[in-house]
Amino acid sequence: MQSGRRLVNIALIGFMGTGKTSVGRLVAELLRFEYLDTDELIQAQTGRSINEIFKTDGEPAFRALEQMIVEDLARRAKTVIATGGGLPVNPKNLASLKTHALVVSLWSSPEKIWERVRHQSHRPLLHDENPQAKIRELLAARESFYKQADVLLNTDLRSVREVAQQVVHQFRLEASGRG
Ligand code: S3P
Repeated sequence: MQSGRRLVNIALIGFMGTGKTSVGRLVAELLRFEYLDTDELIQAQTGRSINEIFKTDGEPAFRALEQMIVEDLARRAKTVIATGGGLPVNPKNLASLKTHALVVSLWSSPEKIWERVRHQSHRPLLHDENPQAKIRELLAARESFYKQADVLLNTDLRSVREVAQQVVHQFRLEASGRG
């Protein structure tokens, strides 16, 4: 852990369907922290859905909104932040999150991800002829970014509660300087 970091928040990064929302909510409950989701913040600020933003303005416009939201998060404390799956691909986002949050990456196999997302339709990047191939392709392209987190947790064989407890444990360890 780099010195000079202010570990007052937890940021969950990782691909779509790795459990960021369910784990994040439980971690927030266990620590009595606030829970925030970058996609929800973008939707609240623009009054539009993620699908709509991608369709009318395109992905670059969405990524610009994402970066703006991330910069704002630096003012927060005692917050669990679940981030959109593509957010850590922008190095500025990851660098910004690391100034105030322990960054935890949730990792899953493409098969497990598919199992979790197949009946959902709110993710524009999976509106593809072959969503399973898309998941593999994006996951491979993003792996090196997800691995830049402080903590990596595989969620394939663990329950939401087990993963959340691990996150809380790591946070307590790191925040008290014993990590
Ligand atoms: C995206 C993931 C989504 C959302 C948007 C783009 C991505 O968030 O930000 O659809 O690029 O992987 P979730 O990871 O919460 O599904």
